[in-house]
Amino acid sequence: MSSFSGNKFSRTAFRIAKRNLTIGLIGTCLAGGFLFAAESSGLGQSANSVSSASAKNSSPWWKHALVYEIYPRSFQDTNGDGIGDIDGIIRRLDYLQSLRVNAIWLTPIYPSPQKDFGYDISNYEAIDPMFGTMADFDRLLAAAKARHIRVIMDMVMNHTSDQSPWFKVSRSSRNNPKRDWYIWRDGKGPGIPPNNWQSEFGGSAWTYDPTTKQWYYHKFLAAQPDLNWRNPAVEKAMFDACRFWLDKGVAGFRLDAIPELFEDPELRNEKILPGTNEVGDPNEEQNRTENLPEVHVVMRALRRMVDSYPGDRVLIGETYLSNIQSQLEWYGGKAHNELQLPMDMQVGFIDRLDANEFRTKINQAETELDGYMPLFVFDNHDNTRSWNRYDDGKHDAAIARIVAAILLTTRSADLMYYGQEIGMVTTPPKTLAEVQDPDGIRGWPKFKGRDGERTPMQWDPGKNAGFSTAAKTWLPIPASYKTVNVQLESGQPDSLLNWYKHLITLRAENPALRDGQNIMVNPSDPNVLSYLRKNPGAGPSVLVAMNFTDQPQTVSYNLQAQGIQTTHATALLADQGAAKEVDLNHVILPPFAVFIGTVQ
Ligand code: NOJ
Ligand code: CA
Repeated sequence: MSSFSGNKFSRTAFRIAKRNLTIGLIGTCLAGGFLFAAESSGLGQSANSVSSASAKNSSPWWKHALVYEIYPRSFQDTNGDGIGDIDGIIRRLDYLQSLRVNAIWLTPIYPSPQKDFGYDISNYEAIDPMFGTMADFDRLLAAAKARHIRVIMDMVMNHTSDQSPWFKVSRSSRNNPKRDWYIWRDGKGPGIPPNNWQSEFGGSAWTYDPTTKQWYYHKFLAAQPDLNWRNPAVEKAMFDACRFWLDKGVAGFRLDAIPELFEDPELRNEKILPGTNEVGDPNEEQNRTENLPEVHVVMRALRRMVDSYPGDRVLIGETYLSNIQSQLEWYGGKAHNELQLPMDMQVGFIDRLDANEFRTKINQAETELDGYMPLFVFDNHDNTRSWNRYDDGKHDAAIARIVAAILLTTRSADLMYYGQEIGMVTTPPKTLAEVQDPDGIRGWPKFKGRDGERTPMQWDPGKNAGFSTAAKTWLPIPASYKTVNVQLESGQPDSLLNWYKHLITLRAENPALRDGQNIMVNPSDPNVLSYLRKNPGAGPSVLVAMNFTDQPQTVSYNLQAQGIQTTHATALLADQGAAKEVDLNHVILPPFAVFIGTVQ
């Protein structure tokens, strides 16, 4: 399976709450179209008081983390060059705090020729001047910490830039000390690469270098040569780079393309499969260049190193995996000595509202991961935004609320991508001349690349959506910014942004949603996805029900087997006209409605 890009996987109206006097509820929030009830357990506290509350909880912070991915080029520009920068992130920290984000993951901000927009790193221990200085980064760390927000760096260990001093030495001769830091081989004949392995970005994964008359391997661009992880010096250099940032106080790493670390030492060909991929190459298996068992030995060593630091530093993996068993392996199986949070892309990238599929995948994460916390992901900088992967053209806003509810009410740590919370849509380039992403240049016109999900953050309805004062921004501002932006949505009680905020508040403060077991109910219903978040203590549990269809659905629940005695559920958050108090024998869910309510 291919690791990312495009969709390579596979790939309104609300209701106003009246004052609610049910025991356990102290009031409801007249949240425009939503029914949102504030619980007596302290919903509505400031983010700071929440942090201190969770600090008392002994489980490590990342278990319940809401991690917000920032694509720094597109978040906030402060020097008017049309490209986002570190100061821009600092400027927007108050917003992130108001969202109650626990950590930000920054895609690479290291010095880079930017051939793959930072994923081609030439120096692992510095900041690219385009984004600012090391002093700016230190200010970011301090300013984020003051707001209880941790900073997670992207770490690209599979490859460097071809402009890295390491690669420059490596390519200079056949017998230099860094020759074996990369993967050099003879071809099979003049102009014929060592084998049939393909680059993720199209074409052969091998490039011939005339200086030494050998080929080097690159899973991605030719400007991104793969490191040779069979050489211990490579591990030492990369671990040193990690230590550099850990010493500074970063909270951990998102490990880029981590299953791709090792390749078959015998260079055996991949099997060719029927059909072609989105850039027009023959489909190929990925058994010789992905998920080789050796990678787990490195992950265990990395985990030991990271664990030697105080403060629960975290390892998050870019792990596109096809089944739950391989997901478990990335935690280190029963020993749990590898990644704390290998990303789960199996739920978020189902790419259609299929209740049975969501039920199966969420339940597998609940019951087959040996109790470990899944990290659910619906959006990132490599894929069409979830809005456009789940929309039906008619109920898009309601469907976006379902996506948010699945992400934030299941038992999981969660990853959000900037703009997801306001409903930013994918805005692909219109002409080849506009395309920035190398993957899109290669794939045009069949595959338009990843620019569409990397457009500038839409802050307000002013110039350049409040992103930049530049005459031209690095990617155009999508037309949707006039109505889809943070400023406007903050003032609209029934906006997607406020829906996200309510869900995030519930997730942080409701004990059942925070820590409760996730038990599927009505498991044969093809239209409505329902689950119970069972309170780990004596308090109320939470029932979540989502109508995945454009027709009203009537559902009946018998929750006695789960120890629930009440015959009614009281809404904590609901939309689409879902009722405030529902009879469990007869729950009417309007089209695409979400109902989240307490039961006991
Ligand atoms: C995965 C990153 O998310 C993607 O943006 C990048 O192109 C590849 N890895 C190569 O580093
Ligand atoms: Ca590799």
